[in-house]
Amino acid sequence: MSKVLILYGTRYGTTKEISDEIEKVIQDKGMATESFNLKEVNQKNIPPLDQYNGIIIGTGIKMGMWTRTVKSFVQKRKAELKKKQASFGFYVCCGEAQKDINTAIEKYVNPKLEKIGIQSALIDAFGGAYDLREGSPISGMTRKIIIASLKEDPGIEDPEGKLHDYRDWEQIRDFANQFVEVLKK
Ligand SMILES: Cc1cc2nc3c(=O)[nH]c(=O)nc-3n(C[C@H](O)[C@H](O)[C@H](O)COP(=O)(O)O)c2cc1C
Repeated sequence: MSKVLILYGTRYGTTKEISDEIEKVIQDKGMATESFNLKEVNQKNIPPLDQYNGIIIGTGIKMGMWTRTVKSFVQKRKAELKKKQASFGFYVCCGEAQKDINTAIEKYVNPKLEKIGIQSALIDAFGGAYDLREGSPISGMTRKIIIASLKEDPGIEDPEGKLHDYRDWEQIRDFANQFVEVLKK
């Protein structure tokens, strides 16, 4: 049975939910999966990558950056990832993708993978979410900046106290299905 390793980095939980959906689609296709939140696992305990038929890594974007844990994993395991390039999928979850997916890929995926020196067989960028409901971890100055940027959207008058979710679940499931096809090649 094919086995897929699914890794993600998230600051506010949005990418975790995307990763869970991708995992579900892959399992529904009859493949086994192993999934890790890179912040919650000692990276040394992630098995050698040649044990897997495919690998997917996703990260949220903050101030233009991947999560620290995704960056360190990709850098440290570069040699192994290079050998698995044909079955390596990568995505970002970010505000930019809400406006233009290709721009998001050009900003947050291609130059960064290139700099590290690896390629991915399947790349995507998904819109993100901003949780401004009670108990939200987005506070202080950051919250003010997010609210100001949400207000630029003519459809939003008062962003406070709401969840603003721009994820396209069809696009996310499509990515997972395409990844399964990549593995079949
Ligand atoms: C403080 C902050 C900074 C952000 N910076 C960027 C950015 O530079 N570019 C971008 O496209 N999206 C940016 N976003 C949007 C996030 O990528 C989006 O909220 C995403 O859902 C976060 O993913 P996560 O919850 O998995 O960390 C930012 C969001 C926050 C709250």
